[in-house]
Amino acid sequence: MQSLIPMGLCGLGHYVPEKRLTNAELEKMVDTSDDWIVQRTGIRERRIAGPGEVTSKMGILAAQRALADAKMSPEELDLVICCTVTGDQVFPATACRIGKDIGAKRAGGFDIAAACSGFVFGSQVAAGFIRTGVYKNVLVVGAEILSRIVDYSDRNTCVLFGDGAGAAIYTPLDRAGRGEFLGGSIQMEGASEDVLAVPGGGSRFPASHESVDQRMHFMKMGGTKVFRFAVRVFAELVQRTVDQYGLDEIGIIIPHQVNQRIIESAMDSLSLPMEMVFSNIERLGNTSAASVPIALSEAVAAGRLKKGKLAVMPAFGAGLAWGHLVLRW
Ligand code: UT7
Repeated sequence: MQSLIPMGLCGLGHYVPEKRLTNAELEKMVDTSDDWIVQRTGIRERRIAGPGEVTSKMGILAAQRALADAKMSPEELDLVICCTVTGDQVFPATACRIGKDIGAKRAGGFDIAAACSGFVFGSQVAAGFIRTGVYKNVLVVGAEILSRIVDYSDRNTCVLFGDGAGAAIYTPLDRAGRGEFLGGSIQMEGASEDVLAVPGGGSRFPASHESVDQRMHFMKMGGTKVFRFAVRVFAELVQRTVDQYGLDEIGIIIPHQVNQRIIESAMDSLSLPMEMVFSNIERLGNTSAASVPIALSEAVAAGRLKKGKLAVMPAFGAGLAWGHLVLRW
């Protein structure tokens, strides 16, 4: 077998909308309290897209920042992958709009609908293309406007989610010079539409007066089931990385920003200190596919990644689907 081409990460960028939705504002919308939200989730505020904003527009801003960071022109991109469950429309793919508007004239593009695991899955797909020599430069965007599918009369979900976009550019390691991709995983546990889903608007329950009346185009979630699943797989993915590379090699864990209590429970079950974790959930809430690339972009900007050490990115969510990404910085 031909040897695989080492891949690195050469550009990062993110964008979050200006408008903040605070816990105090949510107190006026549903029967909740700042105390409950902070204690159960760690979230104090989240960003909400403005009326004129669409998912592609946020993805474009993140992608342009990643291109500038990579010192790469858009014509050099071979592929644009947009990871989202809140694309501009059912089709065409949001990646096509992003690719066109940033000027990625040579690139192909498609979307990945892996919910909160989207960016990790998209990065694994990018690795498949680059490491086999099919493509050289792949842009992976995670972008979500969850505020358009969250039911602001459902206190179980509306306190958790926010909007934003993050982008990464992968390329062969000799050009990237940093962020060597070491591996990771993509996994799923079969269909769990009853646990976490937007039931309406697809081929199962096409949009109708009835689907709208029953609020089926909003997210439904069995929070406790998701909580237990997330703690379990988060801990498994980190443990696997520790077993594979050794604890001393791990410089930082940048998990899907799901809920501070989930992160703390998983770290506690592994007897690992929270200092190893990067978290921005207090400011941004859960932004699904955008959460890992935004957190990675912020962590790099804050100088939190240690040279030569590993950054581990576990993600988990609807599907149920989960996976992780391991980069050496
Ligand atoms: O990326 C994956 C996406 N999914 C998630 O991130 C969700 C993961 N799950 C969670 O984060 C947690 O399960 C929640 C934060 C959603 C809920 O926390 P919990 O500690 O599991 O609470 P619970 O569902 O067991 O509910 C406890 C109580 C219930 O009241 P009763 O039945 O005990 O009277 C809920 O109705 O808390 C109530 N409750 C709330 N109270 C105030 C649920 N949501 C709220 C709220 N404010 N926003």
